[in-house]
Amino acid sequence: MSAPLRIGFIGVGSIAQAHRDGYVAAGAEVVAIADLHAPSLTARAATWHVDRTYTDYRAMLAEGGIDAVSICAPTAVHHPATLACAAAGVHVLCEKPIALDLAQADEMIEACRAAGVVLMVNHQLRSHGAATLAHRMLEAGELGTITHLRLRQAHDWAGASAIGGSFATKAVAGGGTLLDNGCHLMDFARFVAGDVHEVYARTAHRKFDVEVEDTGHVSLAFESGAIGTVEVAWTATGWEEGWAIYGTEGALEYSNRLGEPVLRHVHRTSPGTTWGDTDVTEHRFAGAKPHARHVLAFVDAVRGVGPVTCTGEDGREAVRLILASYESAARGVPVPVAQAFEAL
Ligand SMILES: NC(=O)c1ccc[n+]([C@@H]2O[C@H](COP(=O)([O-])OP(=O)(O)OC[C@H]3O[C@@H](n4cnc5c(N)ncnc54)[C@H](O)[C@@H]3O)[C@@H](O)[C@H]2O)c1
Repeated sequence: MSAPLRIGFIGVGSIAQAHRDGYVAAGAEVVAIADLHAPSLTARAATWHVDRTYTDYRAMLAEGGIDAVSICAPTAVHHPATLACAAAGVHVLCEKPIALDLAQADEMIEACRAAGVVLMVNHQLRSHGAATLAHRMLEAGELGTITHLRLRQAHDWAGASAIGGSFATKAVAGGGTLLDNGCHLMDFARFVAGDVHEVYARTAHRKFDVEVEDTGHVSLAFESGAIGTVEVAWTATGWEEGWAIYGTEGALEYSNRLGEPVLRHVHRTSPGTTWGDTDVTEHRFAGAKPHARHVLAFVDAVRGVGPVTCTGEDGREAVRLILASYESAARGVPVPVAQAFEAL
């Protein structure tokens, strides 16, 4: 048995708990945590049973004794924190979006490559049991040719009347719901249907007193010829994560919105199916949630026994598609992704 992987955290706010659950499931040990906010550090140190706490992540890295770090600080911190981890020879699981812009993402990818450390981005939708199965079925051609996709991530901050500082400003978050939620969906779109060559986006600012958009739609054109839509909102009531993938030989539908989340495979295998009466095969997924599954994959990648399931380049491409979408929304026209950055 090899020694447990020694994990550090940069940022121990909301999403950090999901990472910690994954490390516990993977048998790794959280040995050190860093956060600017001392009360958060104290609280996490007590519940996670961690002795080493730091208000400056550079001091944590300088002291050593850490194999890998989860970066769960606001998006503006991802770039400097990843560069510091790479310089310390520490593997990185970075929250999404990977960075505020493509230049930052490029530096992060290059720094980790040069240091020989893993850089994995936390687009955990890929690690959902339903997504993994969908990917396998699509690879095996079970849906025929993909024709179109519908992807949705929408919520209302649990009914809050205001949005926290790290999500409300462009300087710290990089964008609104389109970047925050949309980057996950862009990554998912590529995961199941390949690269996107054109985007046509609309954004709206309907509810919150923030300087970023709180509602957005994007129409996608894939290189394969398939088309798709991305819908994101901080202005939906409740919480929905859902997607549908349609192919010439069947469809896959997943939503957490209607009762217990299941993946429905809709097909016409039996004789005598009609408009509404089709064959449906349902798949349920037990055990680790997507975040924990993603962390388990990261630990395997660090140990060299599994692939990096969402690379720095994947994270960069998700941001590139969102930045192109912002450009499309600003210009009011469809934008070929390759041309989106010419005028910037
Ligand atoms: N993958 C997902 O599904 C998912 C979900 C939520 C958030 N996120 C991402 O995770 C990141 C954090 O989001 P959150 O919801 O946990 O935010 P949060 O505000 O709850 O927590 C962020 C924490 O980082 C700390 N922090 C800020 N600057 C720091 C610094 N320089 N060094 C160390 N700590 C610092 C804050 O004090 C805070 O405790 C964001 O990039 C967000 O987009 C991802």
